[in-house]
Amino acid sequence: PLVTSKEMFKKAYEGGYAIGAFNVNNMEIIQGITEAAKEVNAPLILQVSAGARKYANHTYLMKLIEAAEIETGLPICVHLDHGDSFELCKSCIDGGFTSVMIDGSHLPFEENIKLTKQVVDYAHDKGVVVEGELGRLAGIEDAVNVSEEDAAFTDPDEAEEFVKRTGVDSLAIAIGTSHGAYKFKGEAKLRFDILEEIQKRLPGFPIVLHGASSVMPEYVEMINNNGGQMPGAKGVPEDMLRQAAKMAVCKINIDSDLRLAVTGTIRKYFNENPSHFDPRQYLGPARSAIKEIVKHKIINVLGCDGKA
Ligand code: G3H
Ligand code: 13P
Ligand code: ZN
Repeated sequence: PLVTSKEMFKKAYEGGYAIGAFNVNNMEIIQGITEAAKEVNAPLILQVSAGARKYANHTYLMKLIEAAEIETGLPICVHLDHGDSFELCKSCIDGGFTSVMIDGSHLPFEENIKLTKQVVDYAHDKGVVVEGELGRLAGIEDAVNVSEEDAAFTDPDEAEEFVKRTGVDSLAIAIGTSHGAYKFKGEAKLRFDILEEIQKRLPGFPIVLHGASSVMPEYVEMINNNGGQMPGAKGVPEDMLRQAAKMAVCKINIDSDLRLAVTGTIRKYFNENPSHFDPRQYLGPARSAIKEIVKHKIINVLGCDGKA
């Protein structure tokens, strides 16, 4: 069935594990992820960004996800990733999503609260859950000094007030992760002290980690060895994600690792088979690579295998 993340998060919080939220853009990605989850009996969040919706169309994605749900019989939550307006959230809620994110993190605090609350009121009325965001992910690595960096991380005082005033069901926070394949210039570092403080202020409340791809070195290498150029790509180490999953983090967002797997696999395939031109010949292995990665994440990083 298509479900909200309510039960998933409750069990994940209590069990000290996290649910994987994987971005989907086409059939092969959806199949790779859902086949993996089925094999290890894991609950699943499939998330759709505004860009994904623009690329593949809402109805196509919804129907592909429904097909995956029928094929696997798994509880799947369909989530809007980084909704930037009330209208977009409303359109996804009306169109069958069970969860939406309203990302007002770029707005001043009071405006973020106002927009988030508006989405929460509409969503809850329809039985849909809402993820909010507080703190700025991208700004951190560009910060020129420590006080500027501190200002970008989520403030625990504000997190507590934000959750109480908006009624959101989960909160994405900034503790040092960032989107994409270049997350750290030097050593990887996450502010677990901030996560711990937020957990203290909001006991039992599910926290979300964006920008949580590990940027798996074997796929970066595969890309670079087959004509690609991604020097310095670096992600969040797996042991840090495991630690976060044991704490209040119930949802871990992964997109870049899937992109790298697809790109590496296809680059290698063409390098080795320059005369081939049947898309099934290279999309098939790309789908298999996604499946392998997702299984690895579920078992070795998220710890949600057997929890569906
Ligand atoms: O956080 C962003 C996700 O990786 C989705 O990216 O907006 O390019 O689809 P996108
Ligand atoms: P990555 O770029 O680390 O995969 O993060 C994805 C994400 O946060 C989607 O919302
Ligand atoms: Zn994100």
